[in-house]
Amino acid sequence: MEKAGWAYYSSGADDEITLRENHHAFHRVWFRPKILIDVTNVDFSTTMLGSKSSVPFYITATALGRLGHPDGETVLTQAAGKHGVIQMIPTLASCSFDEIIDAATDKQTQWMQLYVNSDRETTKQIVQHAEKRGIKGLWITVDAPQLGRREKDMRSKYDEEVADVQDEDGGEVDRSQGAARAISSFIDVSLSWKDIAWFKSITKMPIVLKGVQRYEDVLLAVEHGVEGVVLSNHGGRQLEFSRSSIEVLVETMAALRARGWQDRIEVYVDGGVKRATDILKCIALGAKGVGIGRPFLYAMSTYGVEGVSKAIQLLKDELEMNMRLLGVTDLTQLNPTFVDVRSLSAH
Ligand code: FNR
Repeated sequence: MEKAGWAYYSSGADDEITLRENHHAFHRVWFRPKILIDVTNVDFSTTMLGSKSSVPFYITATALGRLGHPDGETVLTQAAGKHGVIQMIPTLASCSFDEIIDAATDKQTQWMQLYVNSDRETTKQIVQHAEKRGIKGLWITVDAPQLGRREKDMRSKYDEEVADVQDEDGGEVDRSQGAARAISSFIDVSLSWKDIAWFKSITKMPIVLKGVQRYEDVLLAVEHGVEGVVLSNHGGRQLEFSRSSIEVLVETMAALRARGWQDRIEVYVDGGVKRATDILKCIALGAKGVGIGRPFLYAMSTYGVEGVSKAIQLLKDELEMNMRLLGVTDLTQLNPTFVDVRSLSAH
């Protein structure tokens, strides 16, 4: 990888405490497997927002794919297509939105991640174009009214060529502070709960709020009638000292179950997921699916479509093996009794 790509992809906010915590929190959750279950046939397929997926994870939105590979996000699209994995297309992709859709097969499911533009007419056009092109879910990022301070990225000089791709959508940008700052100036800082009704009025796509960090906001999301939330701290790139998503998942599912609301919203999780065991812990605790960012970026940057395909296959193999070892043959059999969360801080 080039230095600028590595700096942008790998960095987290400030001292990268949350970035590391995302990974380490999984080490505080332990399994309670069942024995003597016939695990000849294991099925880890599922549905997310009503779309079929071969796996309980998806490729989450990560900006600037061309910093890692000349073909950018379409590399992820092709690998996702081969494996029946859902891809979330970022607003700040370095390929055009239509290029990424055209790289997909007819059967493939894609979602769109939205950074809300201060110009609502522009936002409306983007959303309605996405719906027309067959996008199956609108994931509105709600944890980034301003981008976090990613010092590794700020120290690296942002590649002019990639910046030019962004300029077409983002207008004139200041590149002196790294890639993240350069591309984020259009994001609407005034976005608030009252805007959800407006989004619901302009699209029929299911809406998911990406970047929720407390159960109270999940309850508000239910009350505002959105279809899902992603418990996420943006891969440790936004508010430093945000908790890991698995901590938030435990309190969220408790609050939803206490109200009998667990079927009113789909709860997704991302951040620090590297192994199928991480994924299975989230599913057992009540997540509908899990987003993965950097592992696919690194696979893409070093080995292109083959690399991302291999990364997906590794996770599939790990899912099959670990489900056998847990004593479950499909994901619906997983529940909180399969994990011991007493080492998480909230317990
Ligand atoms: C991101 N993420 C992100 N999220 C978003 O809503 N819009 C975006 O444009 C981006 N861009 C982006 C770039 C890069 C390089 C990274 C690493 C992340 C956050 C992403 O969707 C997700 O929340 C985290 O990446 C999940 O953590 P892991 O899997 O990278 O540990």
